[in-house]
Amino acid sequence: MNPLRISLLLAWAASANALVRTPQFTSRYHARNNVFGPRLSDSMLTLSSSSFYEPTGCDGKVVLITGGTSGLGRESARRLSGAGARVIITARDVEKGEKTVDLAKQNNWNPSTPIEYVVMNLNDQQSIKAGVADLKSKLDGTSTKIDVLMNNAGVMAIPERTETKDGFEAQFGINHLSHFALTGLIMNDGLLNLNAKIISLSSSAHSIASAKGGVDFSDIQSERGYDAWKAYGASKLCNLLFATELQRRYGGKNKITSTAVHPGVVRTDLARYIFGTTTEESESSEKDDTNPISKFLKNTAMRAVALFIKDVESGADSQVWLASGGADKEGTDVAGKYIVDMKPVAPSEGGTGETAAQNLWKISEALTGVEY
Ligand SMILES: NC(=O)c1ccc[n+]([C@@H]2O[C@H](COP(=O)([O-])OP(=O)(O)OC[C@H]3O[C@@H](n4cnc5c(N)ncnc54)[C@H](OP(=O)(O)O)[C@@H]3O)[C@@H](O)[C@H]2O)c1
Repeated sequence: MNPLRISLLLAWAASANALVRTPQFTSRYHARNNVFGPRLSDSMLTLSSSSFYEPTGCDGKVVLITGGTSGLGRESARRLSGAGARVIITARDVEKGEKTVDLAKQNNWNPSTPIEYVVMNLNDQQSIKAGVADLKSKLDGTSTKIDVLMNNAGVMAIPERTETKDGFEAQFGINHLSHFALTGLIMNDGLLNLNAKIISLSSSAHSIASAKGGVDFSDIQSERGYDAWKAYGASKLCNLLFATELQRRYGGKNKITSTAVHPGVVRTDLARYIFGTTTEESESSEKDDTNPISKFLKNTAMRAVALFIKDVESGADSQVWLASGGADKEGTDVAGKYIVDMKPVAPSEGGTGETAAQNLWKISEALTGVEY
């Protein structure tokens, strides 16, 4: 690992620390199963003990998870499938879909209801439409319906401004617009069940945009100036606004429940644009690294980061809890709410109101051409 990577790693640790210092955040870090782990003792890494939320009673439920091929999406797929749900994930391509299906088989996630996938590149609106058509055929037209839509896929802090196939700034396009379009297409096609749950992965990073008064509607695609974190924060505020507006429009008795989630700062592949590698790749390069100084620096950096982040199992708790009806069982009202550590909390102030949410909805309809 070169010095630049190490400094990026430390900067990420510091930003992770800053992000989790929200008033609502309850510390529940647990790094025992962390991939940094084997060389580090449990006592060093465990700031407080925690158990993972184990979902139950998902038999017969149909769950669609975007970005189910890694990180929080894959962990949610594993747990919900294990609790009996029929889980369909979206994968960027056939290879990634097959790899996850194989992993699920090898690890016996749910032998009676194997994981399925539909190909959807969220970088491309046509691919989303084709994926929805494929989904429809998997659901036998509209005879089977989706009980849980987990809008989970995302990208973080792409260093240079890049565009999706449709010409949208990539973080806004992939994190928000793709999910806006997907949800609309699914709803317009009548694929959602009564009482369906729609879970949108936001982030405490929405506060980066909130601190500046909210989404900059005059430059929503960062055409005048691009900052990787600002664009990420804005896209995560969009996820939050989308979740609340969806609830306002379609929520209610026998209708959908829409919720936004901050999972915590979690060790997944999300930081791949900062580090330039996935966790799998960095683990393999770690094995090949024979330079003792580089190894020492990397271990030190890893230890610093590990103090501030969750492992993927506890990171996925809130979304698994929501998807499996944990909130219903506990009588917690989560409709239109922002959830951290399985509790509704207030999002950051600034640009989180109804006017902004409605404005975003109109812009999203105009850009994607999906109206609902
Ligand atoms: N990890 C955290 O600390 C953290 C904190 C706050 C919020 N979140 C949110 O949690 C969500 C899940 O992130 P994660 O941490 O699990 O990251 P991750 O491990 O990188 O997973 C992201 C998933 O999104 C998929 N994806 C990205 N771009 C795509 C595209 N163009 N088309 C199709 N799929 C695409 C990825 O597929 P590929 O593998 O094919 O790229 C992957 O399956 C994100 O929305 C993120 O913003 C995470």
